[in-house]
This record gives sequence, C-alpha cells and structure tokens, in this order.
Amino acid sequence: MSMRKFLPVLALALAISPAAVFADSPRLGQPISEADVKAWDISVLPDGSNLPAGSGTSAMGARIFAEKCTACHGEGGKGGKNNELVGGEPLSSRIEATKTIANFWQYSTTLFDYIRRAMPWPNPRTLSDDEVYALTAYILALNKIIDEKAVMNAQTLPKVRMPNRDGFIIRFPDKI
Ligand code: HEC
Repeated sequence: MSMRKFLPVLALALAISPAAVFADSPRLGQPISEADVKAWDISVLPDGSNLPAGSGTSAMGARIFAEKCTACHGEGGKGGKNNELVGGEPLSSRIEATKTIANFWQYSTTLFDYIRRAMPWPNPRTLSDDEVYALTAYILALNKIIDEKAVMNAQTLPKVRMPNRDGFIIRFPDKI
C-alpha cells in the first residue's frame, strides 16, 4: 500500500477502534451504592465495632439451635458430625487438645461474626441479626461464660470476656 492510501486507512482505524473496544468492555468503574456495600460490610471487630442493632437471649437461641444446628453440632452443641461448640479440655493438657470456643477463642464478638457470616453451613447469611445474637447468647451460656438470662446486643456482647482472652502472645506488639 502506498503511503498516500495508507494514511486515511490508519486514521479511520484509529477513529473507530476506541468505540469498538468500549462496546465489548466489562463497563468497569461503575460507582457502587451504599446499599451494595452494606451487604458486604459485616466484619465485627474485637471491640464490637460494626455490631448491628438487635438482641437475643439464650432461651431464644436454644429454639433456633434445635431447628438449624443440632444436625451437625449435636444436641446442646456437644458435637456430632461437626465441631463441638461447648466445653473442651484445657489446651495445656496435651498438644493434640482440640481448640474450642471455650478454651481457645479470644473474643466473644468473633462468635457473632462467625455465625452470621458462615452458619448454618448449607445456608449462610440466612439468619436475622436477632437470631445471631440469640445463638451467640445460647452458645456462651452453654459454656457458662454468661448467665442464662443475659441479653446479648451491641453493648453487652463486647463486654463478655472469653476464658482465653489473655492466652495469646502477640509476637510483634508494636506492629498492631
Ligand atoms: C450442615 C452442617 C452444619 C450446620 C447445619 C451448622 N454447622 Fe456450624 N459448622 C459446620 C462445620 C463443617 C464447621 C467447621 C467449619 C470450618 O472449620 O471451616 C462449623 C463450625 C461452626 C462454629 C465454629 C466452631 C469452632 O470451634 O471453630 C460455630 C460457632 C458454628 N459452626 C455454629 C453453628 C450454628 C449456630 C449453627 C446453626 C445456625 C450451625 N453452626 C449449623 C457445619 C454445620
């Protein structure tokens, strides 16, 4: 192709190519709405930051647990197909001791976060916030960490001190 013929072809190619590229692009860069972010913004911190409104008691939790959790975790959370949620021998007793909520977990708020995000295993994110507070209260009461009558909510749950709260050694405390 001579240069004189080639230049207009090049100009045309440059003119149409961006349109062609954008037509097939995945339309990246759409602003995300507050509501969309909220659905994913479920991480609860140890101090209780980001706990939602709502509340629940152990008695309410016992009913939900019997219906949605015993199939895998056994009656009263004693263990079945999957993890026991109650008890556990002291971690210091032997190297293979199973790590449980009572003997290992450092923060009570993790229990709320975990249940809300991951349980019941086949249908995560199907529990209401009240139901998650109730199940959290039930499991904490089963482990005798809170009183059976205690109401769990965004104010009371972070104040619950787990038995192994001080059992972790922070390797690099200045990096926190
Ligand atoms: C179909 C089985 C199944 C059902 C139903 C189920 N879970 Fe689980 N659960 C699991 C499995 C499996 C794990 C372990 C997951 C892992 O280690 O990654 C687990 C782990 C947990 C843990 C963490 C235990 C630990 O010590 O690490 C909690 C708390 C828990 N489940 C609560 C619940 C609650 C509350 C319900 C009812 C709303 C429920 N689960 C229903 C299968 C189930």
